[in-house]
Amino acid sequence: MPVGIFYATTTGKTEDIAERLHGLIGNANSPKDLADLSDLNEFKDLDGIICGTPTWNTGADFERSGTAWDGMLQEIGEMNLAGKKVAIFGLGDSSTYTENFCDAMEELHSFFKKSGATLVGYTSKDDYTFDESKSIVNDLFCGLPLDEDSESDLTDDRLSKWALQLKSEMSGLF
Ligand SMILES: Cc1cc2nc3c(=O)[nH]c(=O)nc-3n(C[C@H](O)[C@H](O)[C@H](O)COP(=O)(O)O)c2cc1C
Repeated sequence: MPVGIFYATTTGKTEDIAERLHGLIGNANSPKDLADLSDLNEFKDLDGIICGTPTWNTGADFERSGTAWDGMLQEIGEMNLAGKKVAIFGLGDSSTYTENFCDAMEELHSFFKKSGATLVGYTSKDDYTFDESKSIVNDLFCGLPLDEDSESDLTDDRLSKWALQLKSEMSGLF
């Protein structure tokens, strides 16, 4: 079964990254805007799910994304996604929002974990400059943070490395 890429966006940056990632990993379904997704059961037809989210609700504990993800997380947590591999990427701004860099990734991470899915795609925080992020889990980012506002020159490199990492961690799926 294929890999699906799902994103939500307010100003289009997460959508752009979803398209670029799709170009890099090739053998995945075309990225889908979560706002157009009527039925989350679509996740059940996939072996791999890659999710993209920005962070807009600065400092919030809940509904950190400020996008369609917020209204769907509860339902995701109640699904049975055991056996699926899930990877998360996040868009944020490490300079202006340095205390809350890409906080929304961890909220997706925790609800997908609740669903029984296997989370992959963790990355090192060494390559980033920020003060705090709720998306650090066991000393790693629980996905790939990207900063198109202050560090867009680093995105190509970060994205291609992550695509290779996913190829290995989602072994056999693409
Ligand atoms: C009002 C506002 C609040 C934001 N809050 C955060 C934040 O808390 N953490 C963060 O990393 N980025 C924050 N950002 C930056 C956005 O997440 C970033 O611009 C992202 O690329 C937007 O993605 P989108 O175009 O897909 O919506 C904020 C931006 C704005 C304008």
